[in-house]
Amino acid sequence: MKVAIFGAGTMGSGIAQVFAANGHTAMMYASSVASAQRHKDKLAASLNKKVARGKMTQEAADDLMSRVVVDEFEAAADADLVIECVAENMSVKKELLGRLDAICKESAIFASNTSSLSITEIGADLKHPMVGMHFFNPVPAMKLVEVIAGANTSSELVEKISNLSKEIGKTPVVVNEAPGFVVNKILIPYCNEGVCVLQEGVASAEDIDIAMQLGCNHPMGPLHLGDLIGWDIVLNIMDVLFNETHDSKYRANVLIRKMVRAGKLGMKTGEGIFNYNK
Ligand code: CAA
Repeated sequence: MKVAIFGAGTMGSGIAQVFAANGHTAMMYASSVASAQRHKDKLAASLNKKVARGKMTQEAADDLMSRVVVDEFEAAADADLVIECVAENMSVKKELLGRLDAICKESAIFASNTSSLSITEIGADLKHPMVGMHFFNPVPAMKLVEVIAGANTSSELVEKISNLSKEIGKTPVVVNEAPGFVVNKILIPYCNEGVCVLQEGVASAEDIDIAMQLGCNHPMGPLHLGDLIGWDIVLNIMDVLFNETHDSKYRANVLIRKMVRAGKLGMKTGEGIFNYNK
């Protein structure tokens, strides 16, 4: 299958890696061909590190990278599946998918990796069928895919994407469209609450995370997790949950807003709640 992935950040690169590792052609798209090539090079470098650590053979890495393609926009016309992982902004997503709608073959499926936006609204003006295919960070390590049915998504398409998710080694859960779907409706307020506990001076950042790791067997505490997800994304999802429901339980902590304004987004910028530059 030929999969065109739009957005080559943490999620898009991970999704490309997983499809290519499972025998599919993964076309990587970013803001330009040169930028997509830089992301492809970064992916190759991360696989080389795995090879150096003895976690992957050179042959497997080369084989995987031979299926990661960088090309012009028009080359997406014969993709079987388009996955968009661009900015969490409805008009950005609609503009991109509108352009793809005009060139992609009729049988192409359109999927969105949105973390909380409405699949129904994203697909509203498109001829191609639209479904949510929500991966988790880091994509190669996380087993889940939320398969999200918008109001116009057929049950056949949901089944097709669920089967494809299994084929690439993931476990799908079928989710009816709702703000935040299942995971982010629960997980993002949990990260937000971690920041509330920190702000109230209940415990230090380190101890909040140790408490949740050792008290609940979570692989990482809420503050490290927010640093991994990115506080810009956490804030964006809190705001979507709040704006869609007007329920005060989804009010984002002001400290998160302040961190985002200061560019302290987490691991990707080197500093969030914790400092990764040391
Ligand atoms: N990119 C790619 N792969 C990664 C990675 C990364 N950034 N970090 C870890 N991995 C892979 C490793 O390569 C390793 O795989 P292999 O054995 O095949 O090499 C595997 O994950 C385990 O890694 P480590 O042994 O180095 O580290 P760990 O055991 O401490 O696990 C972790 C790291 C997987 C990140 C773990 O801490 C974890 O599961 N944390 C919770 C992550 C989580 O909850 N993610 C969901 C975020 S919410 C989201 O994504 C949705 C959204 O819309 C916001």
